[in-house]
Amino acid sequence: MSALRSVVLGTGGYLPDRILSNDDLAAMVDTSDDWIVARTGIRQRHIAAEGQLTSDLATHAARAALRAAGIQADQVDLIILATTTPDQTFPATATAVQAKLGVPGGAAFDVQAVCSGFLFALACADSMLKTGLFRTALVIGAETFTRLLDWSDRGTCVLFGDGAGAVVLQAQTAEQAGDRGILAHHIRTDGTKSGLLHVDGGVSSTGTIGHVRMQGNQVFRHAVTNIASAVTAVMQETGITAADIDWFVPHQANQRILDGVARKLKLDEAKVITTVATHGNTSAASIPLALSTAVGDGRIKPGDLVLSEAMGGGFSWGATLLRL
Ligand code: ACO
Repeated sequence: MSALRSVVLGTGGYLPDRILSNDDLAAMVDTSDDWIVARTGIRQRHIAAEGQLTSDLATHAARAALRAAGIQADQVDLIILATTTPDQTFPATATAVQAKLGVPGGAAFDVQAVCSGFLFALACADSMLKTGLFRTALVIGAETFTRLLDWSDRGTCVLFGDGAGAVVLQAQTAEQAGDRGILAHHIRTDGTKSGLLHVDGGVSSTGTIGHVRMQGNQVFRHAVTNIASAVTAVMQETGITAADIDWFVPHQANQRILDGVARKLKLDEAKVITTVATHGNTSAASIPLALSTAVGDGRIKPGDLVLSEAMGGGFSWGATLLRL
């Protein structure tokens, strides 16, 4: 049998209805629309409704991706959900999604790499599909991240939002896939930097959920360097250059990080998909949400070469190159 490749068959996204504007935040903490827009590019973010769980957001996005792919739930045999905000400490939120979608078997589990989670989940799924362990995967990034926020900390509460995005991946032979599919990954972590971006609680430490704590300017400094190194690694591995890329779909942390990375890598600004202004930073959900937004509005088309990157708590970071 010829080598297998993981091909993206469909994408989907979901954003909760409620919108929190910068002006709404300015009524809660000492900040302003001008400051938030100038420092981050964020104008608003979506907030999950009371009682709406990460698995609910994930299920909406997964259904949209299955519809786009023309795949039924009973054809799925692998669900990997990247999230920092699980419904419960256990079981894995992916199993709640499995039940809500009516996926009858296979395996479902969560991956935790914060804002880089979707790329880590994609790398796991790709590895498992290519070895023939599973055939059709749902890879989801979903977060109710705003539930981790300290709403009195203006340095963090203005940055994040809730949402979910998903892709359907299928293992195909080289003959079936042609030049489509996931071409390369590069994922890395550095645990010595965990104190710069973390949550000050947890099951085995405090017995509480905790809140996001961040030294923003330090994170910013490392983000551009780590992202650029991951992108360079996938380019070197594949021999693809910045000029070959059709679309750049970065993790949507901050407009200034996106601009800094694009400048450093000499990527054409017109090829950068940005949703941070309206979504905020939705952590593991941001890449699949941005991807499904740009596929949905017709910018990204089948056959396009897509470069993605992320950086988040851990530190964790990575890059993925795929042809849609
Ligand atoms: N409104 C008004 N003033 C604020 C706010 C706010 N929301 N937040 C912080 N400030 C103040 C600070 O208190 C500080 O005031 P001081 O000088 O009187 O002490 C001043 O602004 C400057 O603070 P810095 O933290 O140095 O501001 P900076 O220019 O670095 O911008 C920001 C802060 C936007 C968080 C930036 O550091 C950043 O984007 N970092 C990247 C972090 C990030 O995106 N994290 C997301 C998770 S990781 C990832 O996804 C990549």
